[in-house]
Amino acid sequence: MITEEIAARFPAAELAGAWRQFDERTSLLEFRLLDDWCAWRSLDTAEDVFLLVARARDVQTDRRGLNELGAATLGSKLLAAGLDNFARCWGQMPRTFRVVARKAGAHAYRRVDAQVAVERALGTRLPQLRLVEDDADAEFWLTVVGTTALLGLRLSSAAMRGPSYPLTSLPASLKPSVARAMVRLSRPRPDDRVLDPLCGAGTLLLERAASGPAAALLGGDRAPEAVDVATANAAAAGVPVSLEEWDALALPLPDRCVDAILTNPPFGKRVQIPGDGPYPFYRRLLRELRRVLAADGRLVLLTSQTDAMLRAMRGLEPALILHRRLSVLVRGERATIFVLGGE
Ligand SMILES: C[S@@+](CC[C@H](N)C(=O)[O-])C[C@H]1O[C@@H](n2cnc3c(N)ncnc32)[C@H](O)[C@@H]1O
Repeated sequence: MITEEIAARFPAAELAGAWRQFDERTSLLEFRLLDDWCAWRSLDTAEDVFLLVARARDVQTDRRGLNELGAATLGSKLLAAGLDNFARCWGQMPRTFRVVARKAGAHAYRRVDAQVAVERALGTRLPQLRLVEDDADAEFWLTVVGTTALLGLRLSSAAMRGPSYPLTSLPASLKPSVARAMVRLSRPRPDDRVLDPLCGAGTLLLERAASGPAAALLGGDRAPEAVDVATANAAAAGVPVSLEEWDALALPLPDRCVDAILTNPPFGKRVQIPGDGPYPFYRRLLRELRRVLAADGRLVLLTSQTDAMLRAMRGLEPALILHRRLSVLVRGERATIFVLGGE
């Protein structure tokens, strides 16, 4: 998803490297581009953006690797330009810094040892910056994967990971970046009537509202406390959403009344799957969603119950066409985004 958003928004950017799910939760993609980097802070589907300021290859995995990390930082030709570009995007040079280290693979040193090695090198190389523990103006993120090390200067702020509107979330709420990816996959149109029949805190409907106009936003949940939270979130965002307490397996809605459904039914972990198990639940749910979806409507559904979904799709009448299937990690668990359509 992220590579698609980048290709659409920054056609000149070239993918230069990929470290996918290097620590089970995180993927890192490296792009090469000439300018426009400040605009990367408004990507919908990324959680962080970094300027590459140092790189080391063939780093030894024993403690000699620590000296190599320090040397790569001290000798980097990218560091000065990285700081200048950071200052151009944020309007001022940083005065303080900190280092965040992440590591995957077997090494004879600890993550914190790598962090200290780079802190020392940066302290020598950039004496104008003061090392702090928190609230640093500049965050350098060191990623060591096996024998490769990348040092990035974080260009994004915490706002990039956050929701588009202030949001009180629930324990099973989606991350905003995943919700935004699902919204993009629904190919939003201004005349869409959009439904989330298992809306929880309303994350998907509010991210849909942030993406552009819609003719109507409808949502509901079986749990009254979820409906209360979603109602408060929509009011705080100033977004008109029609919300009801209901059973998504028997929606009080006419046939073919919505153009897009965005939803994230229970995985069966944090929120239990009601009834006789995943397959009967997903089969009844899909039938009901098919009933209320317009003939040419779009359904984007995220679940970790991939097999139950695939089984439930078989024999559905009228059929839903599987346009795409994307694997994602949700709180460390493998899940699938299904993009289905009518005609
Ligand atoms: C994974 S959560 C949805 C989280 C939501 N996307 C968010 O970001 O907050 C699944 C939701 O489905 C609701 N739910 C489970 N069974 C339901 C049913 N039969 N009808 C309506 N809602 C149901 C749960 O109460 C829960 O809020």
